[in-house]
Order: sequence, then C-alpha cells, then structure tokens
Amino acid sequence: MISGKLDLITFKKIFLQMKYILAVLILCVMIFPSCKQADQPIVGADKEVNPYQFSSVKNVTVTHGCVASAHPLASEIGLAILKRGGNAFDAMIATQLALAVVHPSAGNIGGCGYMVARTANDSLIALDYREMAPGKAGRNMYIDSAGNARTDWSQNGHLAVGVPGTVAGLFAEHKYAKLPFKDLIQPAIDLATNGFVLTEREADGLNSNREDFLKYNTMPTAFVKDGEWKAGDTLYQPELAETLKRIRDNGAKGFYEGETAKLIVEEMQRGKGIISYDDLKNYVCKPRKPVEVDYRGYDVVSMPPSSSGGIILGEMLNMIEPYPMSSYGFQTVKSVQLMVEAERRAYADRAQHLGDPDFWNVPQQVLLSKAYSKKRMSNYDSTKAGKSDDINAGDVHESDQTTHISVIDGEGNMVAVTTTLNNSYGSKTVVGGAGFILNDEMDDFSIKPGVPNMYGAIGGDANAIAPGKRMLSSMTPTLVLKDNQPFMVVGTPGGTTITTSVFQSIVNVVDFGMNADDAVNKPKFHHQWRPDTVFIEKGFNEATAKGLQAMGYTLVGRDAIGRTELIKILPDGKRDAAADKRGDDSVSGY
Ligand code: GLY
Repeated sequence: MISGKLDLITFKKIFLQMKYILAVLILCVMIFPSCKQADQPIVGADKEVNPYQFSSVKNVTVTHGCVASAHPLASEIGLAILKRGGNAFDAMIATQLALAVVHPSAGNIGGCGYMVARTANDSLIALDYREMAPGKAGRNMYIDSAGNARTDWSQNGHLAVGVPGTVAGLFAEHKYAKLPFKDLIQPAIDLATNGFVLTEREADGLNSNREDFLKYNTMPTAFVKDGEWKAGDTLYQPELAETLKRIRDNGAKGFYEGETAKLIVEEMQRGKGIISYDDLKNYVCKPRKPVEVDYRGYDVVSMPPSSSGGIILGEMLNMIEPYPMSSYGFQTVKSVQLMVEAERRAYADRAQHLGDPDFWNVPQQVLLSKAYSKKRMSNYDSTKAGKSDDINAGDVHESDQTTHISVIDGEGNMVAVTTTLNNSYGSKTVVGGAGFILNDEMDDFSIKPGVPNMYGAIGGDANAIAPGKRMLSSMTPTLVLKDNQPFMVVGTPGGTTITTSVFQSIVNVVDFGMNADDAVNKPKFHHQWRPDTVFIEKGFNEATAKGLQAMGYTLVGRDAIGRTELIKILPDGKRDAAADKRGDDSVSGY
C-alpha cells in the first residue's frame, strides 16, 4: 500500500512535469519564427543592429552626429559607424552600401549617384559618379524603323542600362573617410547573407514588380519567390553578398573587372545589352566644382552638371530672392505663384541648356547670375498664370525612384549623397550570378528631341545620347552654410520633382522659419515648364489651390512629392534631423 501510494505520487509528479514540458514545447512551436530569427547574427559595426527588429524614427535632436536615410537599418548602421569613430564619410559609405541591400528599389551598386560635401577643414567637394552611355550607344538607339521613340527600350531591360558609377563613387568618397573600407562594407555583406525582414512598403514594391522581374531576367533572382511577399518575410541575397565580398577584397576592381565584370557582360549578352568589358574598366568618377549660390546671406552649395540640380536650384532661389517671401507667408497664393513661375522658367532652361559638361558647353555662370534671373522674371505677372508656350529657354550669351542620404558628424563634416537606379528597381534586370539590379538611366537622355522621358522632362542636343556621355540628372544633394559654418544638409529622390522639393525645403527653413520636420513633411508642389501644370501634393492648402485655379493655373493632384532627408543645425549646435514621413525613412543620431 505504501509503495502503491508512493507510485501514485511519483506518477502525479511525472504527469505534472510532462504537462510542463509539453507547454514549453507548444510555446516554442508558436514562437518558432522569432526563436529562429534571434539565433541569426546581428549585423552592424559592433553587431548591434538587429535586421529582424527595427522601426522608423522620424525626428531626432542630437548633439553629435546623425544619419537620415530611406531605411531604418541603413541609418542605424551609419550611426554605429559614427559611434565607432568613423566620420560622416565613413557613415555615408556604410549607409549607402546597406541601402543597396535593404532598399533594392533605389539603393544600389548597379546605378549611380552624386556627393556634395564639406569637410571639417572647410573644403567643398562634389563627386559625379553618374552612369556613362556605353561605347556602342548612339544618338538614335531608341528610335525604331518607323521613326518612333521607343521609351519601352530606354526604360526597361538590358538596353536601358548605363555603365554603373556607384562603386567608383564609393571609393572616391572613401578618400575622405577614416576607417578601412572592409569595415564599412561588412554590415551590407551580413545583411545580404543573413537576410533582413521586409517592411510592408518593400514587400508591396517587390510584388508589384514581380511580372517585370520575370520578364526582364534571364536567370532566377532573389526578388521573386513562389507567392506574394509580405511584411516580415526575410529577404536573403547570397549572390549579392558574394559580389560585395569581391568588392571588399579587390576594391573597385572587384566590380569593374574580374568575375563581377564577367557576370555583367554575360548578362548583357543574354539580353541584347551593349555594355562591354572596356566600358566597365574605363568608368571614372569625376570630381566637379560645386555650384555655390548666395540666398539671403546663406551659402547654398549643390551639384553641378552632369546634374541639372544645382543650377536649377540656384536659378529658382535667385529668381525669388528679390521678393519678400516671409511676408507673403507659407503656401499662400502669392508665395506659391511666385515659386511656380520661378520653377517654370528654370525648367525651360534645363531642357535647352543643360547636359554633360564634358560634351556640352553649359552656360553655368550666366544661368546662375542674379542679373540673368532678374531678366528671366521681367515678364512675371503676379496677377495671372504664366503660360509655358510664352516662356522659352532664356537667351544666354557667355563672354518615383532615387534615394537620398544626409549625414553630419560631430567633427563638422557634412555629406549629402543622392543615388539612383532611375525608375523603381531600375531596368528590373538583375545581373545573373551577381544579384544586383541594373539601372535604366539611359532614359534620362533626351532619346528624341521633344519626346518626354519617364518624368515628362524633354530636351534636345545638350542631352542627346553619345558614347561615354553622362545623361542629365535632377539629383540635388545640397548643403547650406551660414557665416561659413554648417547649417543644413538636404536632398530627396523624385525625378524632376527633386529640385523643386529641395528648393521648397530650403525656402521653408530660411523664409518661413520651419523646423526640420515641417520643412520636410509639409505638402509640396511642382511645376516643370512642360507639361504646363502645377502638381500639388495630398494635403496642399485647399484655399490656395482654388486661388491658383482662379488665376488660370491647371492643378493636378499627386499622392506624394519627394522623400526628403534634412538635417539642420540649431543655434546651440544641436542637430535637428528629420526623415520623410512619406516612406520608411528613418533618422539615427546620438
Ligand atoms: N534618374 C533621375 C535623375 O537622375 O534625375
């Protein structure tokens, strides 16, 4: 009996333990995905960035350095590099490379970019790493036998691809950095190897481009899977990881020569593209002299051609400077109408006068002179809408997807980089075996005079295709100095809306006294000469819209204009940084 009683107690104990074990097992099965994720390595300079758990931070005020970019993981990696002793250039490089993995619609190594920077010891730098037309490119390569301009050829697939410049640009940036390149690229390698979870926006982007990925690729890609992507899915990019390792181990030659170059040329051959080994080997990043414009005592420093950004921005600022903008008020009929008329005139000049300065004599000095802007505005009428048919380019006599990163460090370096594949996911062509998306930047040339590109921009001889030429861009990475001290870093994606968004962000701060968050997130508007339309963003002031219509303007609504990253230095030296609410953009600082 005693032993019988003991047996019963033992049995009850074992039963209770089994229930406990079972409960733990059930719990493990329920949370298995996160158990698995927690086992994965954490990436980043000191392995402190978790690619499975992150969220966007839209606004910070910090004392030392900060990074604003299109993705929280990329900004976090930039911050980790700053904390580790890197400067703003180190952080920029690591952030760009991380974006090439976590933001494949625009972050890239198969596209291009521009950098505008100011070093702590007062040097201004501009780097042009825009794509170049391949050696076999020709002025009429997108005109078919019936004489039609074929934007389907210039916007998708292998023939749309310009010779990528991003990797050459990253190494040119590295001359100003402090840490070894291998430390800056390792977080991107970790992210590509071990994966990261997709945001809803990136999952939607991959799903809506699925058919194009299938159409424009000759080999399977990481971006297409059975069924739909959803937020929280992990994206692994092992082929991209191998390409990044070749760049880590061999420098720029790891991209422009050897295995990666071979894979690019083979991809071209499979899809009737025209980029050759020589095109890749001969690619160069070009240092340029930044555009500088004085606007109400602020020194605005921006990108010269081959981007139109700096000149167009400078022209617009010069055109409105004689007017008392701050007394007109933010987004009143008066202030918007004036800015629209400045935008109209500057974009007419873009179409006629701007192109790659190595191929076309850009009348930069005239376009940026205050006298020229005054003349351009001599037919401005503040009582009625101008007409693009009446506004041509001035006479000069000379005697949806890109991404922007703004970084400031604690030493006084400030760096603005805008980088692009052109369209979202570029040409949609992924280099087989190398895992990265190629650009469709050839569409930024004027493929036929008067035929609009995907942003509606038109052009002529200045931006006609020629072998080795760089296609005109709108990218406008910009710095603003006050009394020769850092004041603001700003830039955005958005095709032709890039320059108008940067223009309005600067006016928002300088004339309307806004903080970084408002300057970025208040609704924007856009006019680009042709079409003769004012595009207004969701949330634009309704009374102002009605007032503009009454003056004769045609208004068209848009969901979003720009995804701006802006860092402003406050009078006490703190950094007020904002990431755009229109996307997954995020700012990290300390
Ligand atoms: N691909 C857009 C731009 O460079 O303006």
